Amino acid sequence: MAAFDQDLLIPPFNKLGQLSGSSHIPYYTGIFDEYEYYLIKDEVVNLDWLKQANLSEPMLEVGSGEGRILSELAQMNLACFGIETSKEAIRRFKQKQHLAEREIIVYEGDFFDFKFDRKFGSVIIPNLTIHLFNDVPTLEQLAKKLSSILLPSGKFAVSIFCPESIQKMSVNYKGQTFVVPFNDDLGKERIMWTGLKFEDQHRTMIQNWYTQVSPSEGFLSADKQRFWLEEELQVIFKPFGLELTHKYDGAITGGGADGFVTNHLIFTLSNN
Ligand SMILES: C[S@@+](CC[C@H](N)C(=O)[O-])C[C@H]1O[C@@H](n2cnc3c(N)ncnc32)[C@H](O)[C@@H]1O
Repeated sequence: MAAFDQDLLIPPFNKLGQLSGSSHIPYYTGIFDEYEYYLIKDEVVNLDWLKQANLSEPMLEVGSGEGRILSELAQMNLACFGIETSKEAIRRFKQKQHLAEREIIVYEGDFFDFKFDRKFGSVIIPNLTIHLFNDVPTLEQLAKKLSSILLPSGKFAVSIFCPESIQKMSVNYKGQTFVVPFNDDLGKERIMWTGLKFEDQHRTMIQNWYTQVSPSEGFLSADKQRFWLEEELQVIFKPFGLELTHKYDGAITGGGADGFVTNHLIFTLSNN
């Protein structure tokens, strides 16, 4: 597990982190994994844009979570693969895999250093996961990896927040702390403390979370997302042979980001 970055803690979460019995864990693990799936359970997954994009098989989803997108794609009779770091998400996925019409293979590991034994007609990062990759070197690493695992003329499909949504976050989340009640996997009511700090310079947002699970035990997590613009992705991906070829408009319905407008971008690997 990567070392916890203390610089990501904003007040008052820096103080919560000093409490005895408080443990730091990554966001997509343990109680935070339960919270995330509670938050998105009402989100509507609209894959019309992926259907319109007519992507080639086999398809790989990076950060496939509990497989809600992969399951839909498999129902369209597409050969699908996923890669996911979170053991909990993969466990959830396996619990419902028998419902899928086609077998889906999910690799457990980190996309950036996983050694794939095959190439893909398309790689997708839908649902804004790319914002977790929050600096230019990481995106260059992503593009390099994509160019090595895509078949000739393969496609990379990615969703980002559109500039209006980013502007909305910049105004609303300059330094906010709020509490969200949620039910854990066993249905027990819990409270999640959340802190958000948007920084305009690189369009980044630090997120902190804290939840108490017993009188003597609490969990703390933090991450930093970067809200990439279409033009930035174009500049970073171009040297790796990935050119923007299509763009679709989208919007999130339900869940924590209800009403936010998105863009879905399709990059095609040139054969040179
Ligand atoms: C925003 S969630 C999206 C989950 C899923 N795509 C969905 O829409 O339900 C992002 C997911 O990416 C995973 N993830 C983040 N970085 C990853 C990496 N480097 N390799 C593989 N999975 C990663 C996280 O564990 C998390 O499950």
